Amino acid sequence: MFATSIDRSQPKSALYRDLAASLGSLLSGETDPVANLANASALLAQTLSGIHWCGFYLARGDQLVLGPFQGKPACVRIRLDQGVCGAAAARRQTVIVPDVDAFPGHIACDAASRSEIVVPIIAGERLHGVLDIDAPEKGRFDEEDRAGLEGFVRTLVPLVNWSSLLRP
Ligand code: SME
Repeated sequence: MFATSIDRSQPKSALYRDLAASLGSLLSGETDPVANLANASALLAQTLSGIHWCGFYLARGDQLVLGPFQGKPACVRIRLDQGVCGAAAARRQTVIVPDVDAFPGHIACDAASRSEIVVPIIAGERLHGVLDIDAPEKGRFDEEDRAGLEGFVRTLVPLVNWSSLLRP
């Protein structure tokens, strides 16, 4: 049984350092993508305060398809020209949206979402999907969250056997 002992009240830089270390221990010895993305989303949900949805959308052809997540049921398919997830995937860059009402094309899976961050998951040249985190308050995510979550994804990438997800 894995127990995380991350201090949720510490400064963000330390929190994200501990989070990446915990992810490494949690996933060590396993590369199954469903298992590891499920545990990665559970670790985020348990560690980050002020969020109500976190999880993965996985690249399938020219769409993103819902993957392992924590939170309410969500929309399943997102095109690369749709929503914040599509924007982050198409630009291959992290997108922070401090106020979803001010982002044209935001997909409101949950009307309670007020801000979000989406980090693309890229290995080599290949886009494998995105990490999406939503919050019920405006302005939940800042540059420290961007750096920390990009680091989380960098830790995650080599710990998942992405090739076993490849399907049209
Ligand atoms: N936030 C997304 C949609 C997915 S849900 O928030 C889980 C978007 O606009 O891309």
